[in-house]
Amino acid sequence: MKSHFMDLLVSLILVISMGCIVSGGDPTQGFTPVPLTAANFALQKPYDIPLDERYSYKDGVHKLWVYADDKPHDPSSNTQPRTEIRIKGLDYHSGVWQFEGYGFVPNGTSGATVAQIHGAAKGATTLILRIYNGNMRYYDGALVAEDMYDKWFRLNIIHNVDRGFVTVFINGEKRFKVKDQGPGDLYFKCGVYAAPADISYYMESMWRDIKIYKK
Ligand SMILES: *[C@@H]1O[C@H](CO)[C@@H](O)[C@H](O)[C@H]1NC(C)=O
Repeated sequence: MKSHFMDLLVSLILVISMGCIVSGGDPTQGFTPVPLTAANFALQKPYDIPLDERYSYKDGVHKLWVYADDKPHDPSSNTQPRTEIRIKGLDYHSGVWQFEGYGFVPNGTSGATVAQIHGAAKGATTLILRIYNGNMRYYDGALVAEDMYDKWFRLNIIHNVDRGFVTVFINGEKRFKVKDQGPGDLYFKCGVYAAPADISYYMESMWRDIKIYKK
């Protein structure tokens, strides 16, 4: 009798823990990976500086850096300096899309957008994720995650264009959800893009295992 009860208890615990694993879920669950080639990774960097002075790719790691007094990516642009990977050839206008990448931001980099969704019905962007003093913020506002310096983190961004919201996961954990800015010509970017204010002189981020998924 007692051992039956123990069996039942063990089974119950197994069922509950498996349920937790399933509902805890991976953000990419139910999504299909989109095949990427080098052609899907377009680099933007200060227009007057050779790429290899702001970007390197070694052992699968993209390293991107920029200085506060660098020029914009285009001589006709008035935007802040950047060195960014722009996911190219996969611009989206509807549906459910997801960016995944492992990022690393060194202590000292501040006021830098490290990932974004470019495009919106109005304005230039749908999502800006910035590092200020080690914390990740939505633009210069809501706190998304703390204590981000000097460690690799997994970033997943899900953009449900049809339902009009964006969800951000750090290390598989849902950390932030926000209404999007309406449909547009949308694409993902990562790297370093100086904020309008409160920026460190040197900005750097590294990225590996970048993937794009859709539903
Ligand atoms: C970043 O570096 C500064 C200066 O070396 C140090 O005081 C600070 O504790 C570091 N912060 C983190 C989060 O490691």
